[in-house]
Amino acid sequence: MSEKIKYAVMVSGGGTNLQAIIDAQAAGKIPHGELALVLSNVPDAYALERAKKAGIPAVAITKKGFTDHEAYEEEMIRQLDAAGIEFIVLAGFLAILSEDFVKHYERRMINIHPSLIPSFCGEGFYGLKVHEAALAKGVKVSGATVHFVNEIPDGGEIILQKAVRVFRNDTPEKLQLRIMKQAEWKLLPRATELCCKELAKAKAKKKK
Ligand code: GRF
Repeated sequence: MSEKIKYAVMVSGGGTNLQAIIDAQAAGKIPHGELALVLSNVPDAYALERAKKAGIPAVAITKKGFTDHEAYEEEMIRQLDAAGIEFIVLAGFLAILSEDFVKHYERRMINIHPSLIPSFCGEGFYGLKVHEAALAKGVKVSGATVHFVNEIPDGGEIILQKAVRVFRNDTPEKLQLRIMKQAEWKLLPRATELCCKELAKAKAKKKK
């Protein structure tokens, strides 16, 4: 098999999607990838604990202590490079990334969003707000989307999507959990493997 692609998962919170990736990696479901770094912008994010428990290098880089956003992102890129990262998975990473950062990882960075894009996405649609909006509209299906990250929030090319049923007595919390269980935790590891496989193929071709 071709060389594995070293990837990082970037997080801000609980890290259930990170856990799904850790479990898939351990079960041999991401054979073309190696989870080499977990990077959080929140120092006490539980996702960092999950990484530590799994023996994966984890760092927290907060905006504090940097004079500006550019310097902050430069430090992130420095640490990602130092770990040999070739591909990034955003799994509930809530900080804004500049156009320069996004360009740097063009078609090498993916994100998971808890709705069927192009519905309930873009600026301001994060966390429970996404599910509140879906319920307010009365949609009968929602779901999750994995997409490449470009300069438009939730606007990059779609890689995978999965629909999930909405029930009449749903609350935003109930819908959020159903979408996570039925869609997000399955799609994100799958998309990670798909992308690592493509990148590994391209890398092997280049070497020839
Ligand atoms: C998920 O709902 C994901 O779709 C969104 O942020 C949430 C992260 O949850 N981008 P977790 O930290 O993976 O539990």
